Amino acid sequence: MSDIYDYPEIYDERFTDRANQVYKQHYIKMLGEKNIHSVLDCSFGTGCLTFPLAELEYQVSGSDISVPMLNRAAEKAKIKGLEIELKQCDFRELSSHFAQQFDCVMSTGNALAHVVNMDVIKTIHEMDKCIKPGGYLYYDSRNWEKSLQDAARFQIGQPFYRADDVRVGYVQVWDYHADGSITINILQSYEKDGRIFDKKEFQEYLHPFSLGPVKAELDKMGYTQIQVRPFPWLEDRSFEEIGWYCLLAKKPRPVDLPFQPAS
Ligand SMILES: C[S@@+](CC[C@H](N)C(=O)[O-])C[C@H]1O[C@@H](n2cnc3c(N)ncnc32)[C@H](O)[C@@H]1O
Repeated sequence: MSDIYDYPEIYDERFTDRANQVYKQHYIKMLGEKNIHSVLDCSFGTGCLTFPLAELEYQVSGSDISVPMLNRAAEKAKIKGLEIELKQCDFRELSSHFAQQFDCVMSTGNALAHVVNMDVIKTIHEMDKCIKPGGYLYYDSRNWEKSLQDAARFQIGQPFYRADDVRVGYVQVWDYHADGSITINILQSYEKDGRIFDKKEFQEYLHPFSLGPVKAELDKMGYTQIQVRPFPWLEDRSFEEIGWYCLLAKKPRPVDLPFQPAS
């Protein structure tokens, strides 16, 4: 079965102008008034979740492991007239690809679950190295605690219309593996005049992770003001209710760290 990230134009079909507006509202609420100017998204993909920031005049850089996703992002940036530095890299080695530090380093689009749980923590440390003292770490993710509790096998998405009036049906079938990983099978149907004329199948392979260990690690690293909100954050809801969350945390400045006597 095909990897969805090898078909970036199909990946993009779900991201409408309305979604773009919602993400802008979310980022204004989440990142506004925090003295954030420069942003690096280390799972930039085709930029669906990061272009809204560039449109809000943040200075945006991006990286991703997938060349097809980055190529599509570069085409979209050109069409939008946006200057965005893009690099291909694995976020587990982020700091060896970026010499400069940013006001905020983010991972958008549930990307951290693509690596095993131990590597999520490694990635948090790599992101940290690229954040200025007093800057912010941000990621969004499925609420894996809730997903695993619900243990749903079939998820039927809201059908949507492409610009050419083709109606796209969207179903996910989740395969739960004994080692805790999950394959999400994505089935799409393409319909015009009441008839399906094409079908596509893709898959994502993911490693659910819990919020607790990430928060504990950030705490250990001296991060403060750790906020967990729904993604997108349009209204307040409890963590148990939300299917997708985001986390924002402030990196300590050296003066904020407790004194460590020399041994
Ligand atoms: C669901 S997509 C999200 C893309 C984009 N942020 C968005 O929301 O449109 C997840 C992205 O994570 C990237 N990714 C997966 N593993 C990665 C890794 N180890 N390092 C960097 N990027 C990775 C994939 O290539 C893909 O573009």
